[in-house]
Amino acid sequence: MKILVIGSGGREHAIIRKLKESKYNPEIFCAPGNGGIAADAICVAINAMDVEGVVKYAKEEAMDWVFVTPDDPLAAGMVDALNEAGIKTFGPKKLAAEIESSKVFSKNMMKQFGIPTASYEVFTDPIKAMEYVEKNNEFPIVIKADGLALGKGVIIAKDLQEAKDGIHEIMEDKVFGASGNQIVVEEFLTGPEVSVLAFVDGETVKPMVSSMDHKRALDNDEGLNTGGMGTIAPNPFYTAEVAQQCMDRIFLPTVKAMNELNRTFTGCLYFGLMITPKGPYVIEYNCRFGDPETQVVMELLESDLVDIMEAIWNKDLANCEVKFHDGAAACVIIASGGYPKSYKKGCEISGLNADGQYEGISVYHAGTKLENGKYLTSGGRVLGVTARGANLREALDKSYAAVKNITFENAFNRSDIGAKCFKK
Ligand code: AMP
Ligand code: GLY
Repeated sequence: MKILVIGSGGREHAIIRKLKESKYNPEIFCAPGNGGIAADAICVAINAMDVEGVVKYAKEEAMDWVFVTPDDPLAAGMVDALNEAGIKTFGPKKLAAEIESSKVFSKNMMKQFGIPTASYEVFTDPIKAMEYVEKNNEFPIVIKADGLALGKGVIIAKDLQEAKDGIHEIMEDKVFGASGNQIVVEEFLTGPEVSVLAFVDGETVKPMVSSMDHKRALDNDEGLNTGGMGTIAPNPFYTAEVAQQCMDRIFLPTVKAMNELNRTFTGCLYFGLMITPKGPYVIEYNCRFGDPETQVVMELLESDLVDIMEAIWNKDLANCEVKFHDGAAACVIIASGGYPKSYKKGCEISGLNADGQYEGISVYHAGTKLENGKYLTSGGRVLGVTARGANLREALDKSYAAVKNITFENAFNRSDIGAKCFKK
């Protein structure tokens, strides 16, 4: 069995290391991959957005599967193109991927089908948007670019000036490009955030273990928004009662709504949830595995991922067991000094073995390259140091013990991943 994984981050590395455990003993390829992924898969120099290149390579190499992981190629229709060429895929088709790539689409869907989400207005005209926030006069207020913006298209405005500046940046300065042609202005919600990734075959939903991301760069949720500085799983705020509410009010209604809109979703659907005083609300959907949520979720997945892929492809997920290990997992991201702004690349990483790993835990590489047998930094988020334990404390202790011994010039990490879970 040959599987091609598309992407180059820590999330892809975690998926690849999980696929490697499969009883089918697959041969794994990654386009384009990175220095650490190269220890676990054959990396091929094809850009993750090169739809034609991927289809051609998958055909030539007779891939049994292509696992399309990042949002951009999903939104660009890579799955559609591969299926037309007769290749099996994991991931949604273009129309279904719009659940992430257009916030206007997903908000309108939630409104139409009564799925709990913050109340909102859509604007294509910046002047009208500014008039609205002025008249509404409730702060904070949340301003979101419609399209994909590398997870950075959300502004939480504390007052009218910040709201106006945000609208100006997104709609007039176009800091997120065409993603800012339309915006959503929405009510500010409060409560703990939970990420739930779920396997979906168009009908059945099998949620994975819940997790918690840490989006801000610095401890105590200070500093700039990042792609995610660490995760833990399971998320203690996601109680059995909340899980049942989510299944009844959010997960199943979403899958049904997508069918009714002729956008049947298959693959991994990511529910970004907020547990508000009024119950769980959807903050955002992603049409894919989250990063760095995947690192902790794959660490805990016990079932064979290939069996789950087959079951989804055959629309038979209802009969496929999706089982997780007991205990907990924690992922601490080591990032380059300066991230998410500018940072230096090419720094040598110390503390890893020849395979880029560390005894007793998993190191998922996000931004590394391998040169002359040395691992060098090549991105903002560099490594996701991930451990499993009998409980969260043990998982965190194992991750942080390794983080102490892995370093490079100007490396930094948050020291409070999971801390909220002990302050309940
Ligand atoms: P998103 O990219 O939609 O996940 O938004 C990024 C972050 O902004 C979320 O993880 C939340 O912390 C915050 N956020 C987004 N929408 C809201 C909202 N309506 N109320 C409060 N916080 C929000
Ligand atoms: N961790 C959030 C995301 O993957 O979008």
